[in-house]
Amino acid sequence: MAMPSAQMLSCTCASCHGTNGVSNAPVISSLTDLSKNYLVEAMQAYKNDERSSTIMNRIVKGYNDKEFELIGEFFSEQKMHSIDKQSYDNAKEKAGKKLHKKYYSSCHSEGSTVTDDEVGLLAGNAALFMKYSLVDFHDGSRDMPKKMKKKSKKC
Ligand code: HEC
Repeated sequence: MAMPSAQMLSCTCASCHGTNGVSNAPVISSLTDLSKNYLVEAMQAYKNDERSSTIMNRIVKGYNDKEFELIGEFFSEQKMHSIDKQSYDNAKEKAGKKLHKKYYSSCHSEGSTVTDDEVGLLAGNAALFMKYSLVDFHDGSRDMPKKMKKKSKKC
């Protein structure tokens, strides 16, 4: 049987991550502009239950490595998104910028907009998604990469 195309495989992700990976849902990340490696490794980690998950570990069980490659390729080629305008507090934005610069900008450079950093992109995601992700990291329900754990202890 012929292999499904990358776009066909990626359509199943749209119900949660949005059309072509551009999420407008406040609690689910976009998949655009992440590197192919980052995406493939994330899917493999979910499949092998090495990354904590509510749903992704079940979703990726049906895919093989070749399909992960195709899906990773597809989303890595989708362009940076801009989600609906979010309201924010200027004072918190300034304080957050300082914290980001001090603790995280060595890995998540240039406001976390750089695909080549090979870490998740933080820019462009909904504030609520970012907040829930940080809560999950801090209460231990999501494992932090070693480097991030070290920095976060000082934070
Ligand atoms: C039913 C909703 C749903 C569907 C469908 C879905 N996802 Fe997800 N995805 C999530 C949720 C929720 C998370 C956060 C982890 C978790 O709780 O499982 C996530 C996280 C991810 C992440 C991690 C993002 C990051 O920034 O590290 C990747 C990569 C991902 N999904 C890829 C996919 C791909 C590829 C598909 C389609 C094959 C897909 N997802 C389909 C809900 C979904």
